[in-house]
Amino acid sequence: MRHLTHEGPGLVRVGTDVFSYAVPPPRENKYGTPPVYKSKALIEQLDDLLAQIEPRRIVELGIFRGGGVALMAAITQPEKLVAIELNAEREAVLDNYLSRAQLRETVVPYYGVDQGDPEVAEILDVEFGPDAQLDLVIDDASHLYEPSRRSFDMIFPRLRPGGVYVIEDWAAQHTLLATIVDHVVNRRDDWKKHAESIATVIDEGNPDLARMLRDEPDEATVGRAARAAAAASDVDRALSRLGLEIVHVVAETSDVVREVTFTQGWIEITRGEGAVSGPGWLDHGSANLFGSLSE
Ligand SMILES: C[S@@+](CC[C@H](N)C(=O)[O-])C[C@H]1O[C@@H](n2cnc3c(N)ncnc32)[C@H](O)[C@@H]1O
Repeated sequence: MRHLTHEGPGLVRVGTDVFSYAVPPPRENKYGTPPVYKSKALIEQLDDLLAQIEPRRIVELGIFRGGGVALMAAITQPEKLVAIELNAEREAVLDNYLSRAQLRETVVPYYGVDQGDPEVAEILDVEFGPDAQLDLVIDDASHLYEPSRRSFDMIFPRLRPGGVYVIEDWAAQHTLLATIVDHVVNRRDDWKKHAESIATVIDEGNPDLARMLRDEPDEATVGRAARAAAAASDVDRALSRLGLEIVHVVAETSDVVREVTFTQGWIEITRGEGAVSGPGWLDHGSANLFGSLSE
């Protein structure tokens, strides 16, 4: 059964709490709850998953304002929810909400920690105990291949059989590339809403062009910037590659991964019963086929 009711555009209710959501969300809202950085479709997908697996032990990677953490905690009243954020600054709006909702004992945010750092394993040992099995992990942090892969290698084995690991927003690099190609091929003039994303991709390799794109560029500059961004988007190292490596794990005989489902913005990976060999397990079997082919 779903736990959320829609209160209007960009608003959902859980019990007496109203949460706002947007992509991206503002810093605060008038409801005193941390704004959620998710689309309506992802909020509903999350609600369905929580109803399906009723998780008690949860990890979320990527806190931002704390909306995802607070929403999951409000819905599940978990035994323990640990959240990890690279940014070192605490989110007061999340702390205030957790105090008011009497969730401070069970919901523990860590700041200034990289999702792929071995420190994450130490945190999970301390918070859950080294042998505890997790029910749910949501990776909504860097959306980059390398750190996301390190997290998956480290945390997925800790799930119970039937537990679920979600990788959110796995298609962002493809979506941007598709937008760029569409602009170049169809000479579309709605590129402005994507100018900042395109400029971000070329900032490092082509800072002058990125600057020109941000200041009222002419059509030739837009075309050059779009081509430069397409060249700089390394889709081979996109987060989707991790999803495909996990599909290769399913191809193995052992039941380490029971099931993988892809929808736009969401990969859901269900843990099987099979044992893994230890840290770096993802590098060993057929999951490394991509690596061995490209060497
Ligand atoms: C999309 S936001 C998270 C939204 C949040 N889960 C929600 O539902 O409201 C991504 C967050 O991940 C953080 N982040 C980025 N790279 C990270 C990394 N390597 N390790 C941990 N957090 C990271 C960003 O600082 C940002 O706050």
